[in-house]
Amino acid sequence: MSNDNTLVLGATGKTGRRVVARLRLRGTPVRPASRSGQVPFDWSDPSGWDAALTGVDAVYLVAPQVPGPAPDFVARAEAAGVRRLVLLSGRAADDWGDSGFGLDMLSAEEAVRGSALEWTVLRSNNFQQNFDEELWHAPLVAGELALPADAVPEPFTDVEDVADTAVRVLAEPGKHAGRIYELSGPRAITFAEAVGMISSASGLPMTYRTISPAEYTRNLVDDGVDEDVAHHVSAMFVMMERGPLATTTDGIDTVLGRPPRPFEEYVVRAAAAGAWSGR
Ligand SMILES: NC(=O)c1ccc[n+]([C@@H]2O[C@H](COP(=O)([O-])OP(=O)(O)OC[C@H]3O[C@@H](n4cnc5c(N)ncnc54)[C@H](OP(=O)(O)O)[C@@H]3O)[C@@H](O)[C@H]2O)c1
Repeated sequence: MSNDNTLVLGATGKTGRRVVARLRLRGTPVRPASRSGQVPFDWSDPSGWDAALTGVDAVYLVAPQVPGPAPDFVARAEAAGVRRLVLLSGRAADDWGDSGFGLDMLSAEEAVRGSALEWTVLRSNNFQQNFDEELWHAPLVAGELALPADAVPEPFTDVEDVADTAVRVLAEPGKHAGRIYELSGPRAITFAEAVGMISSASGLPMTYRTISPAEYTRNLVDDGVDEDVAHHVSAMFVMMERGPLATTTDGIDTVLGRPPRPFEEYVVRAAAAGAWSGR
């Protein structure tokens, strides 16, 4: 089997499916993998990993949601002859301190950065698409987003920029070896400002309200989110209020040679596609 395949984990997710589409368009042989993806891959079932890794040159790695499996996966990738790893991680991972947030991504970073393979880490701010493809979508459709975030702003990153960056790194072997890129949007805005823009562009009434981390955790659990996951998401907001994610970075410009896409562009695109109106 030829050794030019790119294995994309999390291939049905927000970044993975965009990475897959871009690689296909470039003519790069790609293996889209996840539990429900074209190539079966389950973090909780290591017996299937070797088949996914056979004949693979590079891996786009979306971390498992628990700290355990990444080191074993990276060791198996090395043994299978993989040469390069591009890991998606979270912005300012060095500054999360003892917040308890991101142990999954920190464990994956440790495994990737400690490996003998050529590696690159992409650390992104919260995605702009969290407002229409993730946890913040349903509350917005219902008319109110309530989060434990107040005046500390965030330069949300467009997932399209994350995918562009990942694909550029995958297409340029050697150039990004051992680099950690912090990927932010071009301007930090508060959640209240973000919701204001979404409400304006979509023509729908939406409000933003600041609540306590404890109230947020309770709301998530009431909405059916697993209790551990709810605590983890709340811990992220507590960490964010200290400010480590609030500044802009030049990571996207450094890799792509152009500025990141602004939040306004995302909002217009998503509103026109009916993201918040159920069209
Ligand atoms: N959201 C943000 O703002 C943000 C910002 C920075 C970093 N991150 C990090 O980005 C990662 C998530 O990436 P994403 O947003 O592109 O993905 P996503 O939209 O959250 O989708 C998750 C992907 O992982 C797959 N998956 C879930 N459980 C799995 C399992 N047990 N085994 C194998 N695959 C599994 C899912 O597909 P199947 O269901 O088919 O398995 C799906 O393709 C997380 O590590 C998160 O911490 C997120």
